[in-house]
Amino acid sequence: MVKAFTLSGSVRRDSYNARLARLMAQKLAEAGADAAYVDLGEYTLPVFNEDLEENEFPDKAMELGGLLREADAIFFATPEYNGGIAPLTKNTIDWLTRTRLKVFARPTFGLGACSSGKLSGVVGLSHLRETLTKIGALTVPAQVRIGPIEDDFDAEGNLVDEGALRACDRVVEQLMITRRQF
Ligand SMILES: Cc1cc2nc3c(=O)[nH]c(=O)nc-3n(C[C@H](O)[C@H](O)[C@H](O)COP(=O)(O)O)c2cc1C
Repeated sequence: MVKAFTLSGSVRRDSYNARLARLMAQKLAEAGADAAYVDLGEYTLPVFNEDLEENEFPDKAMELGGLLREADAIFFATPEYNGGIAPLTKNTIDWLTRTRLKVFARPTFGLGACSSGKLSGVVGLSHLRETLTKIGALTVPAQVRIGPIEDDFDAEGNLVDEGALRACDRVVEQLMITRRQF
């Protein structure tokens, strides 16, 4: 059985990226995966600083790394801030690389972004893909871009845009069949 986790690079109370990540956990489970949304708010990490590594390495980074390294698939939804990757997304990745748990070696990654901008967070998404590629992670080509968010979610916060829902399904399909062989 495919083991999958979904993450959001925003822990804002009404975060759209968290909604997308929760939806993707549900869709992955419907496709047959053992899937769960991991709330990064439960893994609060300090802003990365090499000085902290020696004596103050956060237990939460090891805990999160221990969980994610077991995954076959990880879906990461991230906001775009000021035309780039959101700080929580990058900080999480930076700490995880320093756990030395090889968190990025096994899972296949799917990416998504919810943004209030017309370009649907495409710049932040491409930064995330570039970072993951740089550290040797495998990403599937399909991605979810949602924006402007007000048009794509209904008043109850459900994703209703048909194109976005189809993109979610394409990412799920690719995550379910792509196994890293190297
Ligand atoms: C500091 C900051 C910078 C932002 N920069 C961008 C941006 O460059 N492009 C964009 O599309 N949206 C930008 N936004 C708007 C976010 O897309 C929007 O707040 C989104 O809802 C954040 O995701 P969340 O709902 O998951 O928290 C920015 C928001 C903040 C707070």
